[in-house]
Amino acid sequence: MPSPQSSLAALGAGPRSTLAELFAADPARVEDFTHDLGGIRFDFSKTHLTREAVAGVGTEDYYDALARLFAGEVVNPTEGRAAEHPAERGFGSPDAVALAAQRRARMRGLIDAIEAGAFGDITGILHIGIGGSALGPALLVDALGRNERRYRTEILSNIDGQAVDEALGRLDPATTLVAIASKTFTTAETLRNAEAALAWLQEAGVEDPYGRLIALTAAPDKAIEFGIDETRVLAFAPSVGGRYSLWSAIGFPAALALGTDAFEALLDGAAMVDEHVAEAPAEANVPLLAALADLTYTQGHGAATRAVFAYDERLRLLPSYLQQLVMESNGKSVRLDGSAVEGTTSAILWGGTGTDAQHAVFQLLHQGTHLVPVEFIAVAEGNDEQDPAHHRELLLNCFAQGAALMTGRSSDDPHRNYPGNRPSTTILLDELDPSALGTLLAFYEHRTFAEAVLLGINPFDQFGVELGKDMARAIDDPDTRAAFDPSTRALIEKAGL
Ligand code: F6P
Repeated sequence: MPSPQSSLAALGAGPRSTLAELFAADPARVEDFTHDLGGIRFDFSKTHLTREAVAGVGTEDYYDALARLFAGEVVNPTEGRAAEHPAERGFGSPDAVALAAQRRARMRGLIDAIEAGAFGDITGILHIGIGGSALGPALLVDALGRNERRYRTEILSNIDGQAVDEALGRLDPATTLVAIASKTFTTAETLRNAEAALAWLQEAGVEDPYGRLIALTAAPDKAIEFGIDETRVLAFAPSVGGRYSLWSAIGFPAALALGTDAFEALLDGAAMVDEHVAEAPAEANVPLLAALADLTYTQGHGAATRAVFAYDERLRLLPSYLQQLVMESNGKSVRLDGSAVEGTTSAILWGGTGTDAQHAVFQLLHQGTHLVPVEFIAVAEGNDEQDPAHHRELLLNCFAQGAALMTGRSSDDPHRNYPGNRPSTTILLDELDPSALGTLLAFYEHRTFAEAVLLGINPFDQFGVELGKDMARAIDDPDTRAAFDPSTRALIEKAGL
């Protein structure tokens, strides 16, 4: 049986035409590689994808895997689990979809009770979680609630006491609810920060501090053991992975801050992508095309990184959200069967916001030695309350950068020469609303999934993070500490630990 990777040969095969040559050879290139989905335009025409290369990739495995994903089958065999995040937006086995809807109704009930004053006068929420239990909610609240949100929302993730003090300092213990978000309810940072928040409520004289705690978890028993009443435990399925969990109870602070209708619209926007990938043929499947463009550079040309620049302040947290989604999913070196993957798997994802990044890192993108596929994300419609002239300039800058990377500018002076032929993808949202953000994030999930399937790897486990956790425990124990290497022992001694 051919390995899944052998079907990728078409992406990097043969002499590669320049982007200018690809445009010159095909007057329909923009139409062929531009797709509109859920109020978002995806333009892959400035990548080196060709119709022939797309047609040459075997996508049977991908569509099979997609069907198994949506059927709630075990697609995460190393952990013996399904990956049921699509069920949160209505795509999955009937049981999983029904359970997710029932749990969402419970979340809505709790939010209604908060609004009706069941917890007294609540003005703020402290959300404690890390990784997938923090990055999604942080992005949602920051992107959609920057100018208007119904509750002050602080997301606390880092175990650093500075982060704890700063988050608590911005909230009033008398009017704050604390949501402890942890899929496993065992994560050291989250539990330590939860204890700190509890002590903060107690020290402020809050009458029933435990009554202010809400748990968002796939381990309800552990939350109840922690002292949280069952009525305030919002559960989700263990088959929903941490970095795919913002659609579940983990999205609670966003649903509270933005309103449950906005949260439903977010899910509907994501469901549009589920429907799309299930129905679209390969040449029109937007996440699949994006994955093929990624693989063209990683597998075909050894590109180590991919850069994402949000030309919209509201999306400034998108690159860090995507870092976990992409790198924790596909930063692997073995296939499902344990054999080594050939070539590069996940690109290292990095990025920032435009135009800031133009004045910091774009030098390397235009003239450096690395092949870095760039992704531009912009929103056609600016915020009504802002001066449209600023938004216009923002967009012009964004489009200028993509054009400059592609066309370059030749000069006899090597220092002033821009080689061009540098690939980029542009993602242009009509507007930034909950539905469009849902579509955008589900697009990234499906792109990551497609890439994993084509590489033959499992995107749903994350054993790579376990060793460091084990070592952190062992380093704190005098009996096991002695076994650490001399460098580490010397550092511990120097820090006086
Ligand atoms: O350490 C990595 C990780 O397991 C992520 O996958 C996860 O999103 C994060 O930790 C937080 O885990 P939990 O939600 O169980 O606290």
